[in-house]
Amino acid sequence: MGYHLRPASAHTSILHSLFRQSEKYIMKFPKRIQPLIEDGLVDEVICQLMSGKEAMVYVVRCGTEMRCAKVYKEVNKRSFKKAVEYQEGRKGRNSRRARAIEKGSKYGRAQQEEAWQDAEVNALYRLANANVRVPTPYGCFDGVLLMELITYDDGQVAPRLNDVSMPPELAIADHNLVMKYILRMLCAGVVHGDLSEFNVLLDDHGPVIIDLPQAVDAAGNNNARAMLERDVNNMTAYYGQYAPELLSTQYAKEIWALYEDGALNPDIELSGHFEESTKAADVDLVMLEIKAAFAEEQERRERVRLAEGF
Ligand SMILES: Nc1ncnc2c1ncn2[C@@H]1O[C@H](COP(=O)(O)OP(=O)(O)OP(=O)(O)O)[C@@H](O)[C@H]1O
Ligand SMILES: [Mg+2]
Repeated sequence: MGYHLRPASAHTSILHSLFRQSEKYIMKFPKRIQPLIEDGLVDEVICQLMSGKEAMVYVVRCGTEMRCAKVYKEVNKRSFKKAVEYQEGRKGRNSRRARAIEKGSKYGRAQQEEAWQDAEVNALYRLANANVRVPTPYGCFDGVLLMELITYDDGQVAPRLNDVSMPPELAIADHNLVMKYILRMLCAGVVHGDLSEFNVLLDDHGPVIIDLPQAVDAAGNNNARAMLERDVNNMTAYYGQYAPELLSTQYAKEIWALYEDGALNPDIELSGHFEESTKAADVDLVMLEIKAAFAEEQERRERVRLAEGF
């Protein structure tokens, strides 16, 4: 379809060896998947696909279908660099859970862990509904997310964006589509928060967004704007390698301005342009107000100091 696998990628060599199961040896079931096998949700573990910072990913067989099982690492084995930034404003659906988390008890910590694990499956359901291409979710059971395995039409596991190169026309078309996905995500109230060439897969039909445990609630998180900007800029920098004219686009500003104006809808045709002038004037005004408030506060302190005889 015009994408070229980059030969130097470590990932591709893993992909090529996939599904080549030994006939003599049987793969041991990872302990965490055992309960899903007992419940009949999974029939067989085919192989390990990846071990990331936060999860181990396996190819499993469910009936006649190959699926992907993402097994979250336990809390102390995960990197929690940005947990605080991401957690802000995340609403628990369940108020008993929210109270337990606030109290910080052992039960509370277990509930927090469960809420964290549920976040990805919830985001996948939400985004699939919002017409964003994500793996179809089949549920999250005991910290194991079952989802569609993204493959080429011939069944080979799909590579990550980082593992391919592409001609400029395709880079422009896919960048456009990914910007549309970011817009639709925001319409559904979600900012991915970790979008990069490592968290987008490519099958024969184009890009598929993965890895959403850190997805943030746009309305309740003060970092949402910065995260959206980072997501957009990562994607633009990636596609811009193949189509440099993309590097001067301003999709993040355009999308966020529409969001703030309440003018966002999933069918808007984005242009990638953004008129800075009026916003720049607003910023100047805000700076003046801040300076005036600061001067006023200094004067008030001076009056207090004088009144107290210092
Ligand atoms: N649904 C899927 N279909 C095919 N491959 C997948 C799927 N989900 C994940 N993978 C593969 O597993 C890798 C790790 O998945 P994911 O990014 O969700 O986990 P992670 O632990 O957050 O990883 P990392 O820390 O590397 O970002 C992906 O880069 C991709 O190669
Ligand atoms: Mg990832």
